[in-house]
Amino acid sequence: MLERFFEARRKIITESAFFEPLSHSIAKVIYNHVAKTNETIFMLDMGCGEGSHLSNICEIVSSNYYDSVVGVGIDISKEGITEASKNYTERIWTVADLANTPFKNQQFDVILNILSPSNYSEFNRLLKADGVVIKIVPQSDYLKELREHLLNNLTNKNILI
Ligand SMILES: C[S@@+](CC[C@H](N)C(=O)[O-])C[C@H]1O[C@@H](n2cnc3c(N)ncnc32)[C@H](O)[C@@H]1O
Repeated sequence: MLERFFEARRKIITESAFFEPLSHSIAKVIYNHVAKTNETIFMLDMGCGEGSHLSNICEIVSSNYYDSVVGVGIDISKEGITEASKNYTERIWTVADLANTPFKNQQFDVILNILSPSNYSEFNRLLKADGVVIKIVPQSDYLKELREHLLNNLTNKNILI
């Protein structure tokens, strides 16, 4: 069941252009905040789900801004990490709790936290001194059109929710 959820999410992210502006904005924030002298930047996605956001952002960052990027994604869901490792073999994927990760202190230039829970003391422990945390939080209009569309369809069929 969860496998199908993560597969569907990957399709939405990769087959529509819906999240492209977000990926490009995040890549720009990274370029503006992480030292250009870094030849390789180390990026960790905390609560990466099925990994498409991290993979897309790594592609944009490495083709436009930095020589190379090491992308690491963690999620507490085994199904999410299985889907990520099947589709994005060039990144590193780990099942872990973002409040208690298996990494040494101050390893990462960038921590991504996209629509996922946070643990700021763990983020702080893992981040290099000049690193940056990028947190994406949905606002009340997030996926409004989709919710309206689903609600209309349900109402038309006289289904009570
Ligand atoms: C709404 S999804 C967002 C996933 C992904 N960032 C995206 O935008 O497609 C929230 C994710 O947080 C993960 N998550 C929830 N609690 C977690 C924890 N304690 N440690 C790691 N991941 C967690 C869930 O398994 C889920 O994949």
